[in-house]
Amino acid sequence: MVMTRAWISDLGGIYVKRGSGVEESPFLPGTTVRDVKGHEYVFLNPAYVSRLLSEYAERQELYRLHLTSLKPINPINAPTPFEERSLREFEKKGFEASREGAAAVVGENGKRFYQRIRPLQVEKSCLNCHAKQGYKEGEIRGGLSVSIPMASADARVGRSRISLVLAGLAILGIVGLSLSLLLRKVVLAPVAHLHQVASRLMTGDYSARASLETGDELQDLARAYNAMTSHIIDSYQSMVQTLSAALEARDPYTAGHVERVSKYAKAIAEELGLEGRLVHQIVMGAILHDIGKIGVPDAILRKPGALDGDEKAQMRLHSAQGKEILSSSSDFSPALRDCILHHHEHFDGRGYPYGLKGTDIPLGDRIISVADAFDAMVTDRPYRKGLPRETAIAELKEKAGRQFDPQVVAAFLKVLGSEAA
Ligand code: HEC
Ligand SMILES: [Fe+2]
Repeated sequence: MVMTRAWISDLGGIYVKRGSGVEESPFLPGTTVRDVKGHEYVFLNPAYVSRLLSEYAERQELYRLHLTSLKPINPINAPTPFEERSLREFEKKGFEASREGAAAVVGENGKRFYQRIRPLQVEKSCLNCHAKQGYKEGEIRGGLSVSIPMASADARVGRSRISLVLAGLAILGIVGLSLSLLLRKVVLAPVAHLHQVASRLMTGDYSARASLETGDELQDLARAYNAMTSHIIDSYQSMVQTLSAALEARDPYTAGHVERVSKYAKAIAEELGLEGRLVHQIVMGAILHDIGKIGVPDAILRKPGALDGDEKAQMRLHSAQGKEILSSSSDFSPALRDCILHHHEHFDGRGYPYGLKGTDIPLGDRIISVADAFDAMVTDRPYRKGLPRETAIAELKEKAGRQFDPQVVAAFLKVLGSEAA
């Protein structure tokens, strides 16, 4: 606008065809001209052009221009309060210092406008018309202000704020999603793995170990975790060994018996295709099966001959006593305690202490009783020589279905067969 005004001023004003809102300026009377065809042309000074452009822009609801001065020739050019304040300020500071103008949000008829005003400088060309008002070249000669309705500005700002918020939410969402995926992969999955290993260990699967190749602190943790697990299992096993060594010290005739029985039991359990956790439990049961004998008096335990009725009854208490001993520690699972309790049950229900039958007897006991009986038959005792292997095998076969579970006997025979071969 300032450029347009300066240009029109340099031309000394312009002529425009009269009509549709363009009439002769009352401040420049007698300036209208007529051509040979009878068309009339009115003379426009820069301020008039500014007003016409402002009306034009306002019709498009764009903005409004106001040319103003503290000493207006035309009363409609009188300043608003904001414009007056700004013009006084400009005159105080001089043109160069106030070149940037001033701005404010002003209210008018209940509407709000963003208004900006900048000073106009008197140029040589202005003096053609304004000399009589006493202005000099280089001075400030009023100002040009522009008002933008805040409604449209607000809407525009609002629209960009909404898109800003949406963009922000989208970015947050993407960042959040990637973080949670990362967290899942880097932290949660390894932790879940450790948790799973711990649960397997607690249910007695001592073969469970953590394997993390994350290459960071979690991998170190898994390594420490495995070391700790091995340590706990080792100390558990050495406690079990100690217990069974205590029994062997009482009953020297059975030296090596426990070790052989547990070896047989393990081989049978594996031959039957049992899972690692059950095999481990059966081995523990085999090592500890006679632990209750610690409570049997020497006279009976070490008696070289056959036991009489009373002594037999006392001896039979050892399975229940074994369970009792293990009950004092929570390190021994209920399944293991039951395994100790039932290792003298017979497949046909004629064993003790409960006379359980067939598959009511825990599988571990059906295995241990075969292994136990076989080793007892083939080893020497002070009062009798051990039976030959073949005789013992014949005995197992003979008692399959009565004292022993036939499937277990079959598995054991396979084990012995492959051992012999
Ligand atoms: C062709 C003559 C002419 C020229 C050149 C001219 N003006 Fe004006 N100007 C007028 C007239 C006439 C008015 C008052 C009537 C109106 O508002 O249109 C006016 C109004 C103004 C006003 C509004 C305040 C008031 O007094 O009503 C300002 C400010 C102004 N002129 C500044 C300038 C400046 C700055 C220049 C030089 C860039 C300039 N004019 C050039 C004729 C002229
Ligand atoms: Fe026993």
